[in-house]
Amino acid sequence: MKTKKREGQWASLPKSQPSATARRTLAQDLFDGIAPSYDTWAQVLTFFQYLPWRRFLVSRMALRPGNLVLDVCTGTAGVAMEIADHHDGRIVGLDVSHMMLEAGLRAIERQSMDGRIQLVQGRAEHLPFPDETFDAVVFTYLLRYVQDPDATIRELSRVLKPGGELLSLEFGIPEALWVRALWKIYNRVVMPVMTLPVSRGWHRIGCFLGPNISEFCKQYPVDRLAAIWRDNGLPLVETRPLLKGAAIVMWGTKDK
Ligand SMILES: C[S@@+](CC[C@H](N)C(=O)[O-])C[C@H]1O[C@@H](n2cnc3c(N)ncnc32)[C@H](O)[C@@H]1O
Repeated sequence: MKTKKREGQWASLPKSQPSATARRTLAQDLFDGIAPSYDTWAQVLTFFQYLPWRRFLVSRMALRPGNLVLDVCTGTAGVAMEIADHHDGRIVGLDVSHMMLEAGLRAIERQSMDGRIQLVQGRAEHLPFPDETFDAVVFTYLLRYVQDPDATIRELSRVLKPGGELLSLEFGIPEALWVRALWKIYNRVVMPVMTLPVSRGWHRIGCFLGPNISEFCKQYPVDRLAAIWRDNGLPLVETRPLLKGAAIVMWGTKDK
């Protein structure tokens, strides 16, 4: 894919990673097809919580001028642009989906942020960066798409500098019984029906998300995730449930 940047600015980082010959992932199949309408429908389907959740995540970051940030699973670069809006740093957005990145590139250009954000195609499981490159690494809605979440967190921690911040945002399942019941009805019934008239791609997402989130949360409850973070050099992990636990933000600092 094309990445627009000023000459020499990103000299130490690789350009876009070719993926044409690589095996396609589930994420590419799911997201390539919905990229142009992603931002609109992601907002609608989360009752307009998508942006506030993202803003809360970015508000947890304590960056200094000139810091370098990696936004893994950047998709249409929404998180990367939110960071650029609130912090004076440079951001690399990485995603496996070419189409999501194309949409992201257009959005970045519209916001005239192309001098500060570079997009790279690649996989979170094998980041194309040397050890300890970034001052902060942020990942959103990633772990449900990887085969080995433990190994992926290890890989994210690898590229983080000592003293750097790791932050994540992921869907969760509300704890309170009645909220959980509503959550289940929404995810298992309403979403598949609601997405049916939107497009085939969105209907696929609408049917996929509920079972996928349930399965992931069963296997990887927040306590287990926090333990994995600790095992990978992030001793103090903070978590905040949002909208009664429908989303979870986690953040921590890597040992020096
Ligand atoms: C739900 S979207 C979130 C996009 C963006 N983070 C946001 O909050 O708007 C998930 C993104 O993760 C990407 N993705 C999934 N698995 C990935 C992987 N293993 N490596 C890199 N990107 C991945 C998908 O292509 C998709 O763009």
